[in-house]
Amino acid sequence: MSKKVTKAIFPVAGMGTRFLPATKSVPKEIMTLVDRPLVQYAIDEARAAGIKEFIFVTSRGKGALEDYFDHAPQLEAELRRKGKDKLLEILQSTDMDSGEVAYMRQHRALGLGHAVWCARRLIHDEPFAVILPDDVIAAEKPCLQQMVEAYEETGGNMVAAMEVPPEKASAYGVLDVREDMGSMVSVKGMVEKPAAGTAPSNLAVIGRYILSSNIFNNLNSLEEGAGGEIQLTDAIAKEIDGEGVYGYRFRGQRYDCGSKAGFLQATVAFGLEREELRDDLEGFLQEIMASRKAAE
Ligand code: UTP
Repeated sequence: MSKKVTKAIFPVAGMGTRFLPATKSVPKEIMTLVDRPLVQYAIDEARAAGIKEFIFVTSRGKGALEDYFDHAPQLEAELRRKGKDKLLEILQSTDMDSGEVAYMRQHRALGLGHAVWCARRLIHDEPFAVILPDDVIAAEKPCLQQMVEAYEETGGNMVAAMEVPPEKASAYGVLDVREDMGSMVSVKGMVEKPAAGTAPSNLAVIGRYILSSNIFNNLNSLEEGAGGEIQLTDAIAKEIDGEGVYGYRFRGQRYDCGSKAGFLQATVAFGLEREELRDDLEGFLQEIMASRKAAE
């Protein structure tokens, strides 16, 4: 039986340049879908999967992230005084316990693999999850929970996988599949951002991983890969002939909130899920589409 996965690393040290100028002062992970920052969706998903320790790899200018996880005694007192119990409940539901969250600085943005490596001393000989908060996944059963359940059967290393159209494959790490078992595939190769027309499959890796601590040894010896960065994909690929690598086809809708188009789509989709917003938003969308059509 595999060891339990109780720690998750959240690499949030990237510069978020696609959202400039906003990300000049607002960390991308604090930007909100409706009324919750991206990072809150990631925390909720991790908690549902049984994660107890939350390790953030941050960088300069991410202070707002640490503030977000702090308690807010003044705000709480004010809401209590005004009898705003519902808001108080929402606020308190985001509180983290003392010692549950750890922060590690990535001093130089050398890539996702390097960001994960920065957290190596907080993980011992145990499997751990990696969650990229810009990948937001709407799912009946949270994506990481689906993966943890599958991982209990397989062990090894597991990456979340999603079918993408061939022309989009070069934006992702892509799996070379050894055996397709339906929701799970075993992997015989991984290519980070393959050149157009060379992707070994249409199964792309997205921002959820369950990894063994061997990955840190592999990262120790890695040189810069695609894009001059230390690639997590390369470190995982080294385990193909070691502890094994599996792709997991999760059930759910993934939004790439690291891109403007994905962020806008997620905003609309999550807005439509909220009962108190649905009618207004739906009416507005119909109206704006009709008036654009009429103007054509
Ligand atoms: P991205 O490729 O989305 O880069 O990183 P980015 O800097 O966040 O955004 P853009 O492309 O400039 O707009 C994917 C994930 O890896 C983390 C990011 O924070 C994000 O969660 N990352 C990336 C690091 O933590 N450190 C790095 O050196 C690079």
